[in-house]
Amino acid sequence: MKNFVYDIPTKVYFGKDQIQSLSELVKNLGKKLLIVYGGGSIKKNGIYDSVLEQLKKTGGEWFELSGIEPNPRITTVKKGIQLCKEKKIDGVLAVGGGSVIDCSKVICAGAYYNGDPWNLVMNPSLIENALPLIAIPTMAATGSEMDHIAVITNEDTDEKIGTRHPLLRPIASILDPTYTFSVSPYQSAAGVADIMSHIMESYFSKEPGLILENVAIGLLKTCMDSGLKVLEDPEDYEARANLMWVSCWAINDFLKLGRPVAWSVHPIEHQLSAVYDITHGVGLAILTPHWMEYVLNENTVDIFEGFFRKLWDWQDKELDSYELVHKGIEELNKFYAKLNLPMTLHELDIDSSQFSAMAKKAEKQVQQGFVPLSESDIVKIYEASL
Ligand code: NZQ
Ligand code: ZN
Repeated sequence: MKNFVYDIPTKVYFGKDQIQSLSELVKNLGKKLLIVYGGGSIKKNGIYDSVLEQLKKTGGEWFELSGIEPNPRITTVKKGIQLCKEKKIDGVLAVGGGSVIDCSKVICAGAYYNGDPWNLVMNPSLIENALPLIAIPTMAATGSEMDHIAVITNEDTDEKIGTRHPLLRPIASILDPTYTFSVSPYQSAAGVADIMSHIMESYFSKEPGLILENVAIGLLKTCMDSGLKVLEDPEDYEARANLMWVSCWAINDFLKLGRPVAWSVHPIEHQLSAVYDITHGVGLAILTPHWMEYVLNENTVDIFEGFFRKLWDWQDKELDSYELVHKGIEELNKFYAKLNLPMTLHELDIDSSQFSAMAKKAEKQVQQGFVPLSESDIVKIYEASL
């Protein structure tokens, strides 16, 4: 186990009605708040009203930035930064999915930066300060509510980049599982696939890490089990609660501490959602089994075998290692099918015309992956996913 510093400072208020803590939290931020939200789901399900009820108790002033798009754009980030500067905002409240929270993170950093905020995405070492951010996630997926990552799309260059900086981590997050009852089956399933991917990307490392591997498998099984339950009953509180908490622990850094971890499928997917604006988790579900097949070789087979033996409880299964891994991948595909997710890029109207251009951009980030991949390797993974 390598040396590490454990520092995951987001204060989490977890459970039904934890919104009651919001007024006190907001009072500590200052007088002027910016509320950031998406296309209106929070108005339909009543979360917006609950937030306002709390804000009215604070005696402070607030402004709003709405319409944050799934796969948030840098142009929207710029609008938020302008508002923060004009109104001299003291803190930001993000209410929504990962897109809203990610957009808010770069707004918080951009409020202290005078150049083009895309520079902060490309080069996070430029981030020197950030407004405090409180997150109220309304779906379980990205874990942005407890991590230091923001993924932003530049629509001019078709780039989608994940930027990382400790100052981007929310100071507090309010996680009420009932807020996720209204998430559609499609978005719920995509969220499950995203959480699964975060866990798997962290699991596959060139170095062993028994605690991390065992925790990862526990989180993964919980996520998959609860994912099927919420599709059956969207108001299953326990299952929604499990998903909400697993989504945080899948990506809040814990699974990365103590050994080198370098993600592969995410950079490959980010190109798809940058160019075709698809739902992130759906792209991951399509690509992951093909990535596994592609990187399966004599150096990785034991790691994949150990993973599938634990995941599917196949400790005693007598099979050749490669055969076992192929079967394990087949089972994973069957699980995605149970989530009713698309299984091919064709189903998303994606053809091969952009594969080379996308692979070129992804390559920069996957060169250091679990198995380093070149542009032509990535094209082959896209082609297998068609
Ligand atoms: O915009 P509204 O009207 O709120 O509707 C949203 C949106 O249409 C809807 N939704 C959210 N909560 C809801 C709800 N609908 C009904 N009831 C609710 N309670 O769901 C749709 C999708 O929202 P979005 O925020 O885009 O989803 P998600 O949380 O999956 O975020 C995806 C974005 O996060 C990035 C992805 O690449 C993508 O851009 N990621 C961020 C990461 C991070 N910060 O660590 C890591 C991830 O790997 C990922 O890359
Ligand atoms: Zn993800």
